[in-house]
Amino acid sequence: MRMYDIITKKKRGEALSDEEIRFFVNGYTAGDIPDYQVSALLMAIVLKGMTAEETAALTLAITDSGEKADLSRIDGIKADKHSTGGVGDKTTLIAIPIAAACGLKVPKMSGRGLGHTGGTVDKLESITGYKTQVDAQTFADIVNKVGCGVIGQSSDFAPADKKIYALRDVTATVDSIPLIAASIMGKKLAVGADCIVLDVKTGSGAFCKTLEETEALAKAMVDVGRLAGKRITALITDMDRPLGNAIGNSLEVIEAVETLRGKGPADLTEISLAIAAEMLYLADMGSYAECERMARAALGEGRAFDKLVEMVKAFGGDGELLLDTGKFERAKYCLEIKSPGVGYIAHTNTERLGVASLLLGAGRQKKEDSIDYTAGITLYKKTGDAVKKGDILAVMYCNNPDLFIAAGEEFLAAYTIGHNPPPPSKQIFGRISTKPL
Ligand code: URA
Repeated sequence: MRMYDIITKKKRGEALSDEEIRFFVNGYTAGDIPDYQVSALLMAIVLKGMTAEETAALTLAITDSGEKADLSRIDGIKADKHSTGGVGDKTTLIAIPIAAACGLKVPKMSGRGLGHTGGTVDKLESITGYKTQVDAQTFADIVNKVGCGVIGQSSDFAPADKKIYALRDVTATVDSIPLIAASIMGKKLAVGADCIVLDVKTGSGAFCKTLEETEALAKAMVDVGRLAGKRITALITDMDRPLGNAIGNSLEVIEAVETLRGKGPADLTEISLAIAAEMLYLADMGSYAECERMARAALGEGRAFDKLVEMVKAFGGDGELLLDTGKFERAKYCLEIKSPGVGYIAHTNTERLGVASLLLGAGRQKKEDSIDYTAGITLYKKTGDAVKKGDILAVMYCNNPDLFIAAGEEFLAAYTIGHNPPPPSKQIFGRISTKPL
C-alpha cells in the first residue's frame, strides 16, 4: 500500500477502505509516514469529506492506536459525558455528581483547556491537593465507592489523535466534521463507557459556529457511537453566550458548588440537569421524565453536592474549600468593566470572552504555560440584559495588573450594545440519540 495512492484516492473524492485508513493512522503514529503526506491527506479529507463508515474506521484506528481503560473493574453500567468545549462550561462538575448521587457509575477522563475553551482537569487542579493522575486500580476503587471520578486522560490513550491533532492545528485542517468527530470519539471509545452523552456546543464560543454544522458534527459522532455499539446522545446546546457567570478555574469551581447548592445560574443548572438526566436515561434507570425527576431531587436535596465533596476528598483534594468557598485563594487584583453605552446587550462574542480570560492567565497561550487558577472573569450582564452607561458588565481578576489592558480591550470588543433586546434564545437546540424519548 502506498500513501501516494491513498492521497490520490481521497483527492478524487473516493471513500477509503478500513485498511487504507489504518495504514495511514498506524504508519503516522509509528513515525513511518512523514508529516507532509499526512497533511496532504488531511487537507483532502477537509475538502472532500468522509462517509459515516470512513469516519467510524478512522475513529476505531485512533482508539486502537494506544491503551484502553479497563472499566471491567467498575461494577454496573458506566456512563460518560463530553463537551465539545466552551467558555464557562463547568457542567462536568455538576452533572457527574448528580448522576452518581442517583446510583450511576461515572468514570470520566477529562482534558485541559484548549485555545479559548477551559478544561475540567485545570478546574479540578485549582482545588488544593486534587490528584488528576492516579493508577487504574485506585481510579476504579474510587468510582466503585463514590460513584464518580474525574482524572486527566493519560497520553497513552489515543496517541494517534495527539499526533494528528498537532498537525491539524498547524495545517488549517481542524475544521472538518469527520476529523473532529473521529478525534473526540476516538478518545471516548478508548475510555469505553457503555453510555455517552455529548454536549455539542454551538455559537460564537464553540468550535462550530452555526447550528447547521453543529448538527452535522453531532450526527457524525452519534453515528460513530452507534456503529461502535454504544448508547449515545448528543445534546446541541447554546455557546453563543458563556455558560453561567464565572469564567476561569477556581471561579468556575465556586460557581459549580453554588449550583449544586441550588443557587446557581438558571442556564448552567438547566444544562447540567439535562446532561445528568440523559446519562440516567441511557443507562435505563427509568423513563426520561423519571430520570429528570431523579436528577432534580439529587440536586435539590443536596446529595449531589455531598457526592462532589466525597469525590474531591477521594482524589486527595481539600473538601473544606467546597464546604466554605470563601477559603479559595483569591486573585490579588480586580477590575470592574463598565458599560460604555446604554441599551441592551445585543450579543457577546463568546470566543473573545474566553480569550479575555486566557489573557488574564486563566488559560495557556503556549502548551508549556502555567495557569493562574485564581484568574478569570465574573459576568454581571449577559446577552439580553438592559444596561445603563457605567453599569458594571463584569469584574476581572488576576495577579498581574498589566494583564488588564489587553484583556479589558478583548472583553469590551466582545460586547455589542444595541437599542433593542435580542430575540430570546434557547439553551438546548436539539437532541440526536440512539434512544428515542
Ligand atoms: N476537540 C477534540 O478533541 N478534537 C477536535 O478535533 C476538536 C475538538
